[in-house]
Amino acid sequence: MLGVRALLGLGLLVTSRGVSVLAHRGAYAHACENTYRVSSARQACTMASTIKYLGQEEAQRIDEELFSEYSFSVDQLMELAGLSCATAVTKGYPLQALIKSPPRVLVICGPGNNGGDGLVCARHLKLFGYEPAVLYPKRPNKQLFQNLTTQCEKMEINFLSEMPEADEIDDVYNVVVDAIFGFSFKGAVREPFGRILSTLKKVTIPIASVDIPSGWDVEQGSPDGIQPDMLISLTAPKKAAEHFKGRYHYLGGRFVPPALEKKYGLRLPQYPGTECVYQLS
Ligand SMILES: *[C@@H]1O[C@H](CO)[C@@H](O)[C@H](O)[C@H]1NC(C)=O
Repeated sequence: MLGVRALLGLGLLVTSRGVSVLAHRGAYAHACENTYRVSSARQACTMASTIKYLGQEEAQRIDEELFSEYSFSVDQLMELAGLSCATAVTKGYPLQALIKSPPRVLVICGPGNNGGDGLVCARHLKLFGYEPAVLYPKRPNKQLFQNLTTQCEKMEINFLSEMPEADEIDDVYNVVVDAIFGFSFKGAVREPFGRILSTLKKVTIPIASVDIPSGWDVEQGSPDGIQPDMLISLTAPKKAAEHFKGRYHYLGGRFVPPALEKKYGLRLPQYPGTECVYQLS
């Protein structure tokens, strides 16, 4: 009995300390209201664990609301998302630390908006001094994606006609950006993406996944799927991000209006200064 009470006392002490530490960070004080476990109290009070991890439907609702209620256009948010992805790549894999020269990056774009983020990312990587090459095997017949493709072509970004073999990717490139599937992915992977993903599983250079590691269940993750070294969560992390085991987890897409953040209880971290990415781990 005494033991339990002592433990409880300790728990409260640790908890209240956690709260007082967080009080300095203003908005983050509320993050620890529900933290009672003694051993993990401190851990649970770090910023990263205060962020909400979204389920697929909630992510879709937030996305729709950004367009319908907040009047953003797709290309606006895609530009900021893609810029965040390119910026995260520069932080994880800085030019001066790349092993292979020229500083080639393979950007693989899927058929939807995640692929559009990839095209924007490639364009910014080029501006940042990298040599991106794009694989874009299924191009939607929409002006937006055609325009993004033209923008890349006009910037002398090379488009590959087919997926290279894993050993060739390892020889030639420094990093792969996986912009194949995003948060709306469901069901089975269609070709040619099945083959592309099985090649990516054999690649040994780092993979940076945009929003979701492609092929993963958006909530459950995928233990036999690709295992990226970097994940760039956009808007807010999705539940699958809890299964991410790579080195770098960045948050990007710094465009969420505070009222929307509040409505969905996102508890986003404070991006430092003018940064468009925030390192979660
Ligand atoms: C695509 O670019 C053309 C100009 O080349 C412009 O008129 C059009 O509005 C753009 N469309 C979209 C959806 O960005």
